[in-house]
Amino acid sequence: MHAVIPVAGYGTRLRPHTYTIPKVLLNVAGKPILAHILDALIRHQIERVTIVIGHMGEQIQQYVRMHYSQLTCDFVVQHEPLGLGHAIWCARTSFGTEPVFIILGDTIFDADLKALLQIPTSAIGIKAVDDPRRFGVVEVSGGMVVRLIEKPSEPPSNLAIVGLYVIRNTPLLLECLEHLIMRHTTTKGEFQLTDALQCMVEHGEQIAAFPVEGWYDCGKPETLLETNRFLLARNTQAVAPPCDSVVLPPSYVAPTAIVERSVIGPYATVGEGAIIRDSRIQNSIVGAGASVIAAVLDGSLIGNNAIVNGSFHSLNVGDSSQINYA
Ligand code: UTP
Repeated sequence: MHAVIPVAGYGTRLRPHTYTIPKVLLNVAGKPILAHILDALIRHQIERVTIVIGHMGEQIQQYVRMHYSQLTCDFVVQHEPLGLGHAIWCARTSFGTEPVFIILGDTIFDADLKALLQIPTSAIGIKAVDDPRRFGVVEVSGGMVVRLIEKPSEPPSNLAIVGLYVIRNTPLLLECLEHLIMRHTTTKGEFQLTDALQCMVEHGEQIAAFPVEGWYDCGKPETLLETNRFLLARNTQAVAPPCDSVVLPPSYVAPTAIVERSVIGPYATVGEGAIIRDSRIQNSIVGAGASVIAAVLDGSLIGNNAIVNGSFHSLNVGDSSQINYA
């Protein structure tokens, strides 16, 4: 099975962080989002991966080449993020007629991937959600997908597509994608994978609906922090507390971070080389090389090499930052 991970989007909802770091390289629970995905692929013996890059793609290539030399990984450039369907179209020559396993680059799963990969037909991950209008939505009958609609204003069900797709009939997928692209058929301004899958169903493709309970989105600040909390709680491991500080589990403190006279956690991730002094940090992610001095942080995302000094008396923040005093 050949995996394709599209990561060419701008990650606008995570600005200002994504002005300088691609979304998939943001740290969650001690390692980049992409590393959680690649580690899961390695655990399932999937060793051929195509990553569709765009915006700041060279950082992603460099990271993968440095840390995942055991994977046979190639990179395809999507010059403009014209939609998920278009991203997969850009990767077409890398997988040819082989079955393909598509995983969105900003989603971490806690799912039985082995069971998903053993399904003999095509299959997509689905989950019941409260407000399906923001997602691709499926209608299911007897465990099989009978209709797919991208971000419907009147959803036919509450079953959202969660970003895991196993496509067996790749020639048909490519035919449907080509059809959309040649006719400039977009939904909400993008070439949608959902629309191509609907075309496949109309051409008789059997697509099983695979329920996924553990679906952890990393696309927005609040969901990134939620995913951080979940992963820290799941992988809880003792962190050696610095002598004059306290680390409340679950938390992750990189071995090269310097922590002095502080209380870290619960649910805090502190990146490599960060410096934390006289501070209280919980439910937050502090990037590599950042300094947090005499501050109280809760529900915060602090970028790499950022400086937070004092209890919000002096702020030096980038475009689109959010500051919540409450
Ligand atoms: P999203 O729409 O959630 O990510 O796409 P985004 O566009 O990066 O984020 P926002 O909406 O601007 O905040 C889901 C995944 O599909 C990839 C994204 O990089 C992300 O991993 N994608 C999306 C592409 O590779 N190309 C596209 O044209 C669109």
